[in-house]
Amino acid sequence: MHQKHIVSLSLLSTEDIREILETAANLKLELRAGVKHDMLAGKALAMIFQKPSLRTRVSFENGMSQLGGHAIYLGPDDIKLAKRETTEDIAIVLSGYVDGIMARVFEHQTIVDLAKYASVPVINGLSDLLHPCQILGDMLTIMEKKGELSGLTLTFIGDGNNVAHSLINGCTKMGMGFRIACPKGYEPDQEIVEAARKAGGSVEILHDPKEAARGADILYTDVWASMGQEAQAAEKKHAFNGFTVDEALLALADSEALVMHCLPAHYGEEITYEASRSRGSAIFDQAENRMHAQKSVLVLLMT
Ligand code: CP
Ligand code: NVA
Repeated sequence: MHQKHIVSLSLLSTEDIREILETAANLKLELRAGVKHDMLAGKALAMIFQKPSLRTRVSFENGMSQLGGHAIYLGPDDIKLAKRETTEDIAIVLSGYVDGIMARVFEHQTIVDLAKYASVPVINGLSDLLHPCQILGDMLTIMEKKGELSGLTLTFIGDGNNVAHSLINGCTKMGMGFRIACPKGYEPDQEIVEAARKAGGSVEILHDPKEAARGADILYTDVWASMGQEAQAAEKKHAFNGFTVDEALLALADSEALVMHCLPAHYGEEITYEASRSRGSAIFDQAENRMHAQKSVLVLLMT
């Protein structure tokens, strides 16, 4: 692993991502076989949350404990990131106590600043711009289900948001084609798209869900209004009318297509309950694999 931090998948090499996925697959097998690990014995991870979480919090916290280490939860009211003291001071102080920092934040710049000022590894547990840990768990899931990544086409139906951005980065690194179908005005960040294309990635931006779904190996979706966008929920619900992953859309994808969602889901909006429980659904494998992928990241960054 050549990087000290996980800020964005665009900063990792293809080999780094492969190493993370291989280590994750081994850790998962060993956990299932009852092997006890102590690679992170005596080490601690500070977990800063400006937003709510089920998967990220529990998978990092239990992941640390399965590796013999310890995690410290710092919720929105504990340290009041960027309100009570500067991000710079928090990064320096925490570096004197713990061996790693995982943070879920609003402004992506906060993650960049934590990485700049901390002397320990910093892991992005979701920012308004990116969600790299999600996509590492997703890539592990796709590997398990499809046996390979390169050459597959992933279609994202929905908002050009943090998950879509990290999928663009991840697909580009791993040789997968990325397509998005979104309403006009909800396209992914232009800089991320251009950088991916420059790096040889195939990124198609469409506005017709049916056209985007046709022949896809993976149909992926996420909520229309992300955390922090609650005030725009009604407007987005209107704009995204017709962008629901349902069984009719699924029928246009490859017959072996996976249905993916990072969760939490709003059933009846971006995905129907039926599609989420269909034969190709991998949503709960994704959720579980967050833990295995992140344990791999923790071992590779903290030992
Ligand atoms: N997918 C994901 O990050 O879930 P949480 O918001 O529950 O952590
Ligand atoms: N795009 C969603 C992902 C949640 C895991 C959000 O930011 O709320």
